[in-house]
Amino acid sequence: MDDIKVLINEAKIDARLDEIAKEIMKDYKDEDIVFVGVLRGAAMFMIELAKRIKNSVEFEFIQLESYEGENSTGNVKLKQELTGKIEGKNIIIIEDIIDTGRTLEYLREHIKKFNPKSVKICTLLSKPSRRVFELNVDYIGFSIPDEFVIGYGMDYNQKYRNLPFIGKIG
Ligand code: IMP
Ligand code: MG
Repeated sequence: MDDIKVLINEAKIDARLDEIAKEIMKDYKDEDIVFVGVLRGAAMFMIELAKRIKNSVEFEFIQLESYEGENSTGNVKLKQELTGKIEGKNIIIIEDIIDTGRTLEYLREHIKKFNPKSVKICTLLSKPSRRVFELNVDYIGFSIPDEFVIGYGMDYNQKYRNLPFIGKIG
C-alpha cells in the first residue's frame, strides 16, 4: 500500500470549484454550454463542476493518448472520437491537468474542425513550469509545481482516481 500525502484537500477543491462555476456563469450569461471532457482523468472534475452551474450543460467526451517521442516532439493519438454534434455550440474543454500543453493544443485544433460557436479551456490543475506549447487557458483551478499528482480523477497506473482530494505518493 502506497503512502499518500494530501496536497489539496476536498474543502479547498470544493471552494475553488464554486468560484470557477461563478466565473463561467458570469461569462456565458444565459447561453447553453457543452462540456467536452478528456477521458479518463477529467471525469470527476467535470461532473463536480457541472453540478454548480445553472446554465444548460451538455456532456461530451473524447479520449486522447499522448506519446512522448525520443526527440521530445511527441504526438497525440485520438482514441475515442466525440459522438455528439457540437457545431454552433459553446464548447468548454474540461481537462484534469495541463503539463506540456501538447494534448490541449491538439484538442483545441481538433474541436475547431467541427465549427463550434466558441471554444474555451478549463483545467483543474496546471504545471506552468512544464509548458512547451503556449496555450491560452481560460479557467485554471490551481497552479502546482512540477510533481506527479494523483486523485480527483487522476491516476498512477489507473489507480487512485477515486480519491476525493489531490495528493502525491510518498
Ligand atoms: P500534456 O499533453 O503534456 O499537457 O499532458 C497532459 C496529460 O498528462 C494529462 O491530461 C494527464 O493525463 C497526464 N498527466 C500529466 N501530469 C500528470 C500528473 O501529475 N498526474 C497524473 N497525470 C498527469
Ligand atoms: Mg488527461
